[in-house]
Amino acid sequence: MTVYIPMKEFAERRRKLMERMAPDSIAILPAASERVRNRDVLHPFRQDSDFQYLTGFGEPDAVLVLIPGRDHGESVLFCKERNPEKELWDGFLVGPEGAIERFGLDDAFPISDIDDILPGMIEGRSRVYYPLGKDHTFDAQVMDWVKLIRSKVRSGAQPPGEFVALEHQLHDLRLYKSANEIKAMARAGEISAEAHRRAMQRARRGGSEYNLEAELVHTFMDHGARATAYPSIVGGGANGCILHYIDNSAPLKDGDLVLIDAGCEVECYAADITRTFPVNGKFSEDQKALYEVVLAAQVAAIDAVRPGNHWNHPHEAALEVLCQGLIDLGLLRGTLAQVLDTEAYKPFYMHRTGHWLGLDVHDVGDYKVGDAWRVLEPGMALTVEPGLYVAPDNTEVEPRWRGLGIRIEDDVVVTRDGCRVLTDGVPKTVAEIEALMAG
Ligand code: GLY
Ligand code: MN
Ligand code: MN
Repeated sequence: MTVYIPMKEFAERRRKLMERMAPDSIAILPAASERVRNRDVLHPFRQDSDFQYLTGFGEPDAVLVLIPGRDHGESVLFCKERNPEKELWDGFLVGPEGAIERFGLDDAFPISDIDDILPGMIEGRSRVYYPLGKDHTFDAQVMDWVKLIRSKVRSGAQPPGEFVALEHQLHDLRLYKSANEIKAMARAGEISAEAHRRAMQRARRGGSEYNLEAELVHTFMDHGARATAYPSIVGGGANGCILHYIDNSAPLKDGDLVLIDAGCEVECYAADITRTFPVNGKFSEDQKALYEVVLAAQVAAIDAVRPGNHWNHPHEAALEVLCQGLIDLGLLRGTLAQVLDTEAYKPFYMHRTGHWLGLDVHDVGDYKVGDAWRVLEPGMALTVEPGLYVAPDNTEVEPRWRGLGIRIEDDVVVTRDGCRVLTDGVPKTVAEIEALMAG
């Protein structure tokens, strides 16, 4: 059961989705499947984010069906039946009765009966919403149910004629976070910030990148956040220039920076924080110079997160500061306009300044509406994460810059008059970082 999101909020989400569905339609959404890791060992189970959003129900082998206007209940769940013998080995199952009582579904059936029951629910509905094309097995299953109905047309059965991707409507709902969702995300941000602080405080002991990963995991687990939102990145020295570095196996070197990009999940809501700091607790002059450019870019980008600005404004704000900084430090030549126009910054800054954040670390929601960037509105949550990366083999720049990789990332939510930073529990100025590491 979820603590941050009350059951009535899940019901409200289902209601909102049904309001957006065509009359005479049905939506079908499967839970995530368990995946084998090796032989009889499974990967830790993570619920599908759409399924989680609409149910809060954390088991595999379940299917949610939404049938607007159905007399016997509009929200129907198929799930595993209770089974004392199986539960003795694998733990508690909610069961169909529990799904109604504890999860507020209107109606529920054993998943083993779905082939007998669901075609009758689809029959007579003209449009079927489902995650079309996401999973071949489920696509085939939906078509099997439809074929069954088609085989009975001479007895008067009416098969559906339209199949529509469920995501379009659902993902637009997910883009706007409620007060409860923001509380869950703030908690994930708070725990993740504490984990980064702990890693900073322990870095001076040296060791390897995985030693700092262990400190992150320790804090996540210690607060009951048992899953990371994505594999943690701990990159010492030039490994900080590898955007998705997850080996985390190299020794940490005195005099190097280390880049940590890590966040936990709380009730499946992600945090996503990056900090970059010196292994020995003190920035060198060159490290500090480049770091200050990234920090100024991040502050400018956060300042651009406010209602009325569009999605690309923070990126543009960050880009200007980064490019001017690269020119001022002599890493790029030319005017600001030239550098922006020719994209000469690309070898140093090749990613965007953020992404939507929510149940998925790279959360759902359109970034453009038609040809125009999406306008920011209260409740939208995003990351702000500019960086600069100087490849170790970049001979165009002075050797002193080579191998520096710096990113600073915070999570923010748009408010009525600006934005709220959810991850400010971990320092990011040079003075604050050095003070924490000296302590
Ligand atoms: N940690 C993934 C990202 O920052 O986008
Ligand atoms: Mn991110
Ligand atoms: Mn990140």
